[in-house]
Amino acid sequence: MSRVGVLGGGQLGRMMGLAGLPLGMEFVFLDPSRDACAAQLGELLQAGFSDIEAARTLAGMVDVATFDFENVPRDSAHALAELKPLFPPPMALGACQDRLEEKRILTELGISVAPNYAVSSRTDLLYGLDQLGWPSVLKTRRLGYDGKGQVVLRDPEDLERAWQALGDDELILEKFIPFEAECSLVAVRGQDRETRYWPLARNVHHEGILMLSLADDFDAELQAQAEVIMQSVLDYFDYAGVLTLEFFLQDGQLLVNEMAPRVHNSGHWTIDGAETSQFENHLRAIAGLPLGGTSATRQSLMFNWIGKLPDAEKLLSIPGLHWHDYGKSSRPGRKIGHATLTHANRAGLIEQAQRVAALAGGHFPALMRQLPGFSA
Ligand SMILES: Nc1ncnc2c1ncn2[C@@H]1O[C@H](COP(=O)(O)OP(=O)(O)O)[C@@H](O)[C@H]1O
Ligand SMILES: [Mg+2]
Repeated sequence: MSRVGVLGGGQLGRMMGLAGLPLGMEFVFLDPSRDACAAQLGELLQAGFSDIEAARTLAGMVDVATFDFENVPRDSAHALAELKPLFPPPMALGACQDRLEEKRILTELGISVAPNYAVSSRTDLLYGLDQLGWPSVLKTRRLGYDGKGQVVLRDPEDLERAWQALGDDELILEKFIPFEAECSLVAVRGQDRETRYWPLARNVHHEGILMLSLADDFDAELQAQAEVIMQSVLDYFDYAGVLTLEFFLQDGQLLVNEMAPRVHNSGHWTIDGAETSQFENHLRAIAGLPLGGTSATRQSLMFNWIGKLPDAEKLLSIPGLHWHDYGKSSRPGRKIGHATLTHANRAGLIEQAQRVAALAGGHFPALMRQLPGFSA
């Protein structure tokens, strides 16, 4: 079975490792950090992501390669791809690294996105605001994640603060979408182009960080709408591996917020609640193996642990709770674990979810009330 090289040794790489070991795969993770949390699942090649020689060394150690984050420098990805198959395709990686380019491609494919303008000067910003109106969201084109590198402009007083914070970078100004809900579609496409979609997840964010994902919470019509959009993106890139689309839902229509050329936080529920997890299917796809089924086997709600872990012992007493500790040190704002609560039916899921939220505390009780049917 394959030796898999992963650029990045974070929790996504770690969960790939956890899914791949039973398939008989072996892993080498390239990561600059000595304590990369994926390293427990394989070998660690400690090197910077822009170290081209290290990317070539990785290629020499494996049969196939992938990445667990989208900011892999272009030159490293290309150096690796010259020597060994790299999935998802570097072209998709490049497109997802720039919010402006990403929206340009989606628009070219006829897919709706938030109206937007490129901003590289104060003049551009004022012009964009004039066109889009208030509120709007100013974001860095590159390297933003978990809500970092973006500011909502609600009134003229926010302008100076936003420009001070972001003005040194190339930016994009987006219309603020007063969405009814956020959701995401995770799909996998094999090298033979066979494609499978997991059910849409409903996502709740707090200060730009994903906190809750409720699996399979939308009707077949919306699922079909999301799959049509996904299909055209997968075809455009001649994609192989897992791809995620984040959506805003407004008036029954989906707008793509962003895409991620990788396994995604909103798909973690698939480990415990789907026939095959996103991690396993990603590995099957890149190794040229047949794909597994993607249907939900039960109701699932994922809780993200940010900054610190709640009391595992108390939470594990809740029936249907599955614990995932990434083995990372605590730091404010850092994703260090998650739990997925599963249940055979929605009523039972809601009942147990109230207990999880109460025990986990913090913002969880209030955030959970944003899930239809979950308010106590
Ligand atoms: N144009 C927008 N309108 C409304 N909310 C937005 C907009 N852009 C971002 N957000 C909110 O901020 C969150 C994070 O933004 P996103 O663009 O997905 O960046 P990141 O790469 O940090 O996930 C979104 O999930 C959404 O809740
Ligand atoms: Mg996002």
